[in-house]
Amino acid sequence: METLEDIEKEIRSCKRCELHKTKKNYVPGSGNPKAKIVFVGEAPGREEDLKGEPFVGAAGKFLNDVLSKVGIKREDVFICNVLKCRPPNNRDPSPEEVAVCGNYLIRQLEVIKPDMIVCLGRISANYLFDHFKLAFTKISSVQGKVFEVDSWNKKIKIVPVYHPAAVLYKPNLKDEYEKTFQKLFSQKRGQQTLLDYGFIKFENNQN
Ligand code: URA
Repeated sequence: METLEDIEKEIRSCKRCELHKTKKNYVPGSGNPKAKIVFVGEAPGREEDLKGEPFVGAAGKFLNDVLSKVGIKREDVFICNVLKCRPPNNRDPSPEEVAVCGNYLIRQLEVIKPDMIVCLGRISANYLFDHFKLAFTKISSVQGKVFEVDSWNKKIKIVPVYHPAAVLYKPNLKDEYEKTFQKLFSQKRGQQTLLDYGFIKFENNQN
């Protein structure tokens, strides 16, 4: 059974597409290998490329802010991207890059087997919807909705939201974005929220 370290090692010598030639660092992902929630972005940007860590630039700071407002610590979840190398000038990933690099993401998910996957933005949502055989329309139609699929012998939730960078560019989306996160993570089931429910076990992430 492979581990996240095995996959990371493979990523760090990957030459499956041309992006390895222009990147500074591979950005495999970081966080808790037993996370109940995985956040998946699009591709590393400039800061992420320099540091080798996902979501450490402006979009990452905003994401941290939104997560902390709903009581989620980054070290309790796993955060990664569909692409593990930065596309030059942050251009959109090509369909070929998504197809070859997305395989690493799927293998990471197979190891973690999270209960919830939050797709940050269109590229991630489109790729993961295809993978889990959900129909993707457009991000504005699906964002904030919870889709349930069967995987790893359990029901898991696929939740697309806008990309945090898109919200930074459109500040009028900010309130709605924070409300979406509140709704997702403070949702009541009986008297309990998803957080209380053991959906995300912060202290003890053992399955
Ligand atoms: N945007 C992404 O999609 N991922 C990152 O890691 C940073 C910015």
